[in-house]
Amino acid sequence: MSVIPNSTALITGASSGIGAVYAEKLARRGHDLILVARDAARMNALAERLRGQTGCSVEVLPADLTDATQVAKVAQRIAQAPGLGLLINNAGMALSGTLSTSAQGDVERLIALNITAPALLARAAALRFSEQGSGAIVNIASVLALAPEMFEGVYSGTKAFILNLSQNLSAELGPSGVHVQVVLPGATRTEIWARSGTDVDGFPPEMVMDAGDLVDAALIGLDRGETVTIPPLADEAGWEALTRTRLALVPHLSRRDVAPRYAAG
Ligand SMILES: NC(=O)c1ccc[n+]([C@@H]2O[C@H](COP(=O)([O-])OP(=O)(O)OC[C@H]3O[C@@H](n4cnc5c(N)ncnc54)[C@H](OP(=O)(O)O)[C@@H]3O)[C@@H](O)[C@H]2O)c1
Repeated sequence: MSVIPNSTALITGASSGIGAVYAEKLARRGHDLILVARDAARMNALAERLRGQTGCSVEVLPADLTDATQVAKVAQRIAQAPGLGLLINNAGMALSGTLSTSAQGDVERLIALNITAPALLARAAALRFSEQGSGAIVNIASVLALAPEMFEGVYSGTKAFILNLSQNLSAELGPSGVHVQVVLPGATRTEIWARSGTDVDGFPPEMVMDAGDLVDAALIGLDRGETVTIPPLADEAGWEALTRTRLALVPHLSRRDVAPRYAAG
């Protein structure tokens, strides 16, 4: 079983979009919640509604996850919150421009939020869950981890980081009874698009998933014990073939001899 029934779930980026939907669905599954994001008023409104509708207990923990001190505060809560069994590492942002056209501060914030914070929070959860011998870490990446041609490279690079980290962490923590799932959404109808200056309604409607459908599919993948869940990908054989091809390269990637095509002279 991937998820401990009735355990407490800590969700980052819980004030809107995919994170708020996770809060809703996990509360209805019987989990108590700790909600993390910057907008305390929005999380308090969600918490009050979920307490009333489901009877679950909801703690609101406001934090700016681009700030190292506030990440440390959330990591400490992961280490100590009673009954914690699930981390949904979801908070994230996109750039309005590209690496060269964005302000340096925006690039730094993106990397802090999409890479540093989820890595450190996953670390805190890995330490706690492996000690208790149970728990699950769900990391929200993106299909852009597989498609750097489709989108700005800093964002897609952060999501490739999350995919690599999750696949390795899954192998490392599995024997301790800790499950790691990485979810790769395609375009999903949330505020991330407007926040980064893109009109999601400009995309063909068949390309854009509703956040509720995305989270329902991700939870089915989690229930099945999947490590990698790609909700929009209809033909799983494509992912399996990519993995087979990649793994077949591995024995050839580190050698004493340079490849013949690079041989001097
Ligand atoms: N929507 C898509 O098409 C799509 C596709 C693939 C992957 N994803 C990933 O899905 C995840 C959730 O995004 P979403 O689509 O649901 O977007 P969203 O509606 O914009 O939600 C982003 C969440 O992250 C929080 N957040 C932003 N900056 C933060 C900060 N500095 N500190 C703490 N929390 C912060 C926001 O809350 P506050 O503003 O209150 O802090 C919000 O709760 C992200 O990792 C994103 O990269 C989205």
